[in-house]
Amino acid sequence: MKLSIIGAGYVGLTCGACLAEIGHTVLCVDTDDDRIARLNENDLPIYENGLAELLARNRRANRVAYTANMPSAVRTSDAVILAVGTPSGPDGHVDLSMIEAAARDIAPHLSPDAVVIVKSTVVAGTARRLRELISRERGGRAVEVASNPEFLREGSAVADFMDADRIVIGADDERTLAKMRRLYQPLRRRGVPVIETTTINAELIKYAANAFLAMKIGFINDVADLCEAVRGDVSAVSKGIGLDSRIGPTFLKPGPGYGGSCFPKDTLAFAALGREVNAPQRLVETLTVQNELRKKKLAKRAVDRLGAAQYGDRVAVLGAAFKAGTDDMRGSVALTLVPLLMDAGYRVSIYDPQANRNAAELLPDGDFHDCPYAACKGVEAAFVITDWDAFRSLDIGRLVSVMRGRTIFDFRNLYEPSAFKRHDVDYISIGRAPALGQRRKAAAEAGSGISVSEHV
Ligand code: NAD
Ligand code: UGA
Repeated sequence: MKLSIIGAGYVGLTCGACLAEIGHTVLCVDTDDDRIARLNENDLPIYENGLAELLARNRRANRVAYTANMPSAVRTSDAVILAVGTPSGPDGHVDLSMIEAAARDIAPHLSPDAVVIVKSTVVAGTARRLRELISRERGGRAVEVASNPEFLREGSAVADFMDADRIVIGADDERTLAKMRRLYQPLRRRGVPVIETTTINAELIKYAANAFLAMKIGFINDVADLCEAVRGDVSAVSKGIGLDSRIGPTFLKPGPGYGGSCFPKDTLAFAALGREVNAPQRLVETLTVQNELRKKKLAKRAVDRLGAAQYGDRVAVLGAAFKAGTDDMRGSVALTLVPLLMDAGYRVSIYDPQANRNAAELLPDGDFHDCPYAACKGVEAAFVITDWDAFRSLDIGRLVSVMRGRTIFDFRNLYEPSAFKRHDVDYISIGRAPALGQRRKAAAEAGSGISVSEHV
């Protein structure tokens, strides 16, 4: 099929590459001329594992092209996929202005048999409203609109698309459904389960899935606090409950609170919809508040533990992206932690394997480094805040030897506390007893007032 994808962001580019890989011809369209110019130079504006190679290969095979010329792309397309942003609006309601604008823009150029596919995450009822909006713009000529939410994760986006747990097709009539089946036939043949339902159900599935996954994270984070209070170990609890097949092992890693471009805004939108239609989503309401508080609470407790900075004191922050495998800073804990550290008087050295450039735009007062050891040179404390694999294999001895102070805060539980025994360093992780350096341990045992159960 000939496809246009409106919005060449994370979702648009990944879907574009993958749909081309399974045999379709894809035009990626964006209003951002710079983005299109970069893409035409094979310069991918985001970091995502394997995506640059996949796009380049399909571009060479003439199955992918980039353009800012929306009308000519849409005119020649059998399907037009809307993949523009749907950010948070007032009161947490989803802001649909970008997708409505895109729908209005494409309306006059759609060929009579084209199907419009809503890939962006939107609130229940949006596909039906867009169908009305587009047909109004076309002087009453009907148009087919499908809902086809996307479940990919940043960092593993290509694999998530090609080997999806399921594809959800929302269609309110047989003709639309038939086109959607054609689009995904190659993946269905490879064994990817396909759910066919109404557009409203498809939209609800997307929000409910994100809300549920976010709740698992919120739950384990609360359990981590409990473990700290009663001297338990959240890793053992997480493993113990995750092996129950009804619960499942994933999304039970404690951390500084979920971030990213989607969980925060989608949980807010889900709760806002519940309020609007008088079907309150109380669990999710609580979760949204707790999660934001958690980011601040962890950062504040760490700052309290370190105390106010002396002139010139420096700390290191390892990781800036909201998760490993991406350079996306949206909803990153770095955006909460770094300003708080600066307010306490610290200079902050930052290193992220991929996100330094994006982070520097948002945290212009940070000092950026191109390796973790350089970032940690002479610092009072180091914070590990993103779960990059490269951080798991750090040479702890080397890291400690370049630091001036002796505290490592690990917001991702990347290390075994026992690994710190040999180093005279306080290792403070989440939901586990801290591993205290020899000197502090001796001081605590001598009753100096330092509690061994102190946590971040
Ligand atoms: P993004 O911000 O990375 O990309 C959106 C792109 O759309 C931008 O490049 C922007 O310039 C472009 N755009 C905006 N209006 C346009 C218009 N009228 N015509 C052409 N281009 C236009 O956004 P994203 O992260 O790809 O998310 C897109 C949607 O997919 C959102 O609804 C999001 O919730 C959902 N989603 C995102 C992910 C993810 O991992 N990022 C996963 C699943 C679903
Ligand atoms: C999430 C969903 O996982 C995708 O299915 C969905 O398509 C996407 O949102 C979306 O709608 O945009 P993403 O935000 O890319 O994907 O990344 P996740 O791996 O879900 O991580 C989200 C946040 O939760 C990150 O801050 C991560 O560090 C945190 N997290 C994740 C935890 O703290 N613990 C975990 O066990 C898992």
